[in-house]
Amino acid sequence: MPESTRDLTDYSFTRFANLDFYRQVNSRLLDLADVGKNQTIVDLGCGTGAVTRLMLDRIVSARQTVIYAIDHSSAAIRQAIAELGDRKTAMVKFVQAEVQNLRSAVQDQVDSIVYCNSIHYVPDKGKLLDDVRSSLRPGGTLAFNTTFFEGSNPPESETFYRRWMMRSLRILVREHGLRPVKADKTEARRQLSAEGYKLLLREHGFGVSKAEVIPVEFPLEGYIDISGFRDFIEGTLPGVPLEAGSDSLKRGAKEAFEDLKIQFVPRNWLNVVAVRA
Ligand SMILES: C[S@@+](CC[C@H](N)C(=O)[O-])C[C@H]1O[C@@H](n2cnc3c(N)ncnc32)[C@H](O)[C@@H]1O
Repeated sequence: MPESTRDLTDYSFTRFANLDFYRQVNSRLLDLADVGKNQTIVDLGCGTGAVTRLMLDRIVSARQTVIYAIDHSSAAIRQAIAELGDRKTAMVKFVQAEVQNLRSAVQDQVDSIVYCNSIHYVPDKGKLLDDVRSSLRPGGTLAFNTTFFEGSNPPESETFYRRWMMRSLRILVREHGLRPVKADKTEARRQLSAEGYKLLLREHGFGVSKAEVIPVEFPLEGYIDISGFRDFIEGTLPGVPLEAGSDSLKRGAKEAFEDLKIQFVPRNWLNVVAVRA
């Protein structure tokens, strides 16, 4: 497949990750965590490297810094390496591993672990925090953000989500002759509140130094690009082939924006910085 075609059909996270609003959301977390002053940093669930790049922009002492960029997807890591290009200095070490195997993936104790937009996927968050804790030096920091928590969708956004799903399912059934299969609730939908995260952190040996919920204006292009991401399509329309699922979700989002005559959908992001006690 020619490179240009593959870029459009690889169902990776890259397009979404490069949107301005998303870069700003993640930059905010890295600044809250003052990540650039650290020398050993883990970018957990690094995906195609969008957050790794933001980290590189903030590193104070390039010669003494190591970033371990970890993801279980070899395709995402390959893409991250390609996208970092010349910026993939000796500073970044990519490791293909499951988050659940963090302790064997990075044997040193590090200064900071950054986990962007992924913690909601993890079924056993207590076990994750224990692993993160033992991979951090005493006083080291965990910084994470998520927009899948109890409170991430303000009540005024509910009309949009209902309309989006209604429009997408109609396209899926009428034009593709498909329906999603009923699946168990995915972990992304079994959500903790901000208070729930804080409590869990304290129970697992962390002090919470910063926690904030920030409002974000989620644009149509965000819904279009996230509708091209494999994990999102599979979670939203289980059992549906990626091409048909992506097409239905993208067109459904456009129609919902047009129906409701809106420019963006309000959404909240949770940012947390916690210190290993
Ligand atoms: C939503 S993307 C976030 C990427 C990046 N951290 C960001 O914020 O832009 C989630 C990433 O987590 C990875 N991932 C999901 N489950 C994982 C697991 N169990 N172990 C390692 N990586 C995982 C996926 O491959 C994907 O690259």
